[in-house]
Amino acid sequence: MAKIGMFGAGYVGLVTGACFADLGHQVVIRDIVPERIERLLAGEIPIYEPGLDAVIERNRDRLSFTLDVGEAVDGADFLYVAVGTPPTESGDADLAAVWAVVDELPEEVPGRPVVVMKSTVPVGTGAHVRARLDARGLTHVGYVSNPEFLAEGSAVADFTRPDRIVVGSFDPEDAERVVELHAGIDGQVVHTDVPSAELVKLAANAFLSTRISFINEIANVCELVGADVVDVARGVGLDHRLGPHFLRAGIGFGGSCFPKDVTSLKQLAGNSGYQFMLLHAVWEVNELQKRRVVQKLQKHLGPLRGKTIALLGLAFKPNTDDMRETPSRVVAYRLLSEGADVRAWDPVAHPDDLHGIELCDTVLDAVRNADAAVIVTEWPELASLATAEVRDVMARPLIVDGRNLLDPVATRAAGFLYEGIGRPRHASPAEPELQL
Ligand SMILES: NC(=O)c1ccc[n+]([C@@H]2O[C@H](COP(=O)([O-])OP(=O)(O)OC[C@H]3O[C@@H](n4cnc5c(N)ncnc54)[C@H](O)[C@@H]3O)[C@@H](O)[C@H]2O)c1
Repeated sequence: MAKIGMFGAGYVGLVTGACFADLGHQVVIRDIVPERIERLLAGEIPIYEPGLDAVIERNRDRLSFTLDVGEAVDGADFLYVAVGTPPTESGDADLAAVWAVVDELPEEVPGRPVVVMKSTVPVGTGAHVRARLDARGLTHVGYVSNPEFLAEGSAVADFTRPDRIVVGSFDPEDAERVVELHAGIDGQVVHTDVPSAELVKLAANAFLSTRISFINEIANVCELVGADVVDVARGVGLDHRLGPHFLRAGIGFGGSCFPKDVTSLKQLAGNSGYQFMLLHAVWEVNELQKRRVVQKLQKHLGPLRGKTIALLGLAFKPNTDDMRETPSRVVAYRLLSEGADVRAWDPVAHPDDLHGIELCDTVLDAVRNADAAVIVTEWPELASLATAEVRDVMARPLIVDGRNLLDPVATRAAGFLYEGIGRPRHASPAEPELQL
């Protein structure tokens, strides 16, 4: 069994570290935020990720948490880098945390550990890290690019049953050691060079984002021609050459990965002399899509000044508390700037930086006397939103379903005015006329 030093106790570092411990490895997770480490030492999990608490709990004897670099490096066979790589103002990835880890490695690193890059980084980063390690006299330290594909909300399962394990290396022996570390996990291994491994990650996220923007544009066309995007997506997705995934129309993608990886790949191409036009469009479509909710509200309510709008869901997707780049922020601040009063509810995301927005404890509190409810995140508990109780407490029974979570026919039959994304409007006798 190996000893792993994991740098970063975020969504990737915590999940990967805990899951490696579950495979029997000894894992030291190091972070630089004292509060994060204190909470972990006290038995708390600082992020919301289903199933992670159980994995950490049953591996307490193989997992430790520290602020100390030396503890993570001491005797380690692998030094995993799972620090954040957020976008800079220019759109390039900010690699400050990656460089900090490389530079923090002690002068004397015993043994022959392999630095394994889990963080998503631009192509060329591995070569730069290799050169920096060499310049520091750490030529015996290996380097492998092993990008992470887990999705928040299903991260533990994604580790256990990965679609693939991509391993890019300068030295085949290092790659083999990383593959062996995954013994017990069934996943196809893709061996490649470092730049290709780096690009696999960016290309995969850019492609998923492209599918989302594509189906969102189809949804917008559906609204004009009277087609239903849910049926269109199903019909398209059943083609085995295309598949059904990421063809769900909605109010756009967000989160800590897709927006930044689209921008990062666009920048990378531009900096290398190529304009990646498709990704420019993917980005613009997504920005416009988030704002379409406001137009839908205006269509039914007229000017939004003084109207109360309940945003249901804040996290960028269900089963996570991650608020990074979430569409809810754009929708909330667009509504505020139109003069609306904005309330919000989310079962796990309780941000303290949504200024001017009233956070509510329950869905019912959020929708009470509201002129409209907007489903922003498809939390399962919102699937039963269209009840008589909700309808009766709302000032106007208008639901704008930004995730096509509800059945339009049933929702209208329950007495709501329903507006989805790319769904046809079949008039229902029960659907109310709004009194403006
Ligand atoms: N979140 C995801 O779904 C996901 C999926 C695949 C890949 N990734 C990539 O993985 C990387 C990490 O993402 P994340 O969501 O876990 O980020 P995160 O922000 O949740 O966690 C990063 C952690 O690294 C810590 N850190 C910063 N500098 C450090 C240092 N010098 N030593 C040790 N710890 C340090 C931070 O304090 C933070 O706790 C990013 O590059 C991201 O693009 C993320």
